[in-house]
Amino acid sequence: MATTDHPRPYRPFAIALHWIVALLVISTIPVGVMMLQEDLPRSTQDALFIYHKNLGVIIFLLVVIRIAYRVFNPPPPLPASVPTFQRTIATGTHIAMYVLLLVMTISGYVYVTAGDYPLELFDAIGIPHLVAPNEDLADTAQAIHVTARFPLVLLIVVHIGAALYHALLRRDGVFTRMAPMLRR
Ligand code: HEM
Repeated sequence: MATTDHPRPYRPFAIALHWIVALLVISTIPVGVMMLQEDLPRSTQDALFIYHKNLGVIIFLLVVIRIAYRVFNPPPPLPASVPTFQRTIATGTHIAMYVLLLVMTISGYVYVTAGDYPLELFDAIGIPHLVAPNEDLADTAQAIHVTARFPLVLLIVVHIGAALYHALLRRDGVFTRMAPMLRR
């Protein structure tokens, strides 16, 4: 059922962070898969690796800022029409996405630094590696990194599905809390 009242939106800083992180993560996943294809020209593969590693570290920093910001600026309340079970699923999905984004970024960072590979932009500006070379640690971090993408992709699909459900079917203002410019 469509309703005309507009729930309070997220704050502009939270909205900006949400859409920036969403775009970066959604572009980082296919790049991560493409860069491991064996028949790629070397120069293309290098460019994809550089993009993936740089963006991955930037995603980590933005996710930490987002979590800290959220702790001090809790999200606006959902409309009363949203049933309890949907609130519980939404909260669980959001927490799991934050955890998985941290797992993906930290495991990627540990894999690269423990494996003694370059960290591109961050090497260029002189930021030291926080993890010493260690082959076993690099192997473990790599295994975590390539496995954690599956639940992350699943959660992103659930999250986008729920957003579209609210935007197109329920039209209850839940979606426009994160995109107030689309309010009608
Ligand atoms: C949210 C952030 C990230 C996402 C969603 C992500 C996603 C992915 C995905 C989907 C793959 C392909 C795995 C496969 O097909 O087997 C991959 C591989 C890889 N990622 Fe990330 N990644 C992220 C952050 C990072 C960071 C921060 C680094 C390092 C600084 C990194 C370094 C790598 C490396 C080196 C590989 C190749 C792994 C291998 O050789 O098996 N990633 N990533």
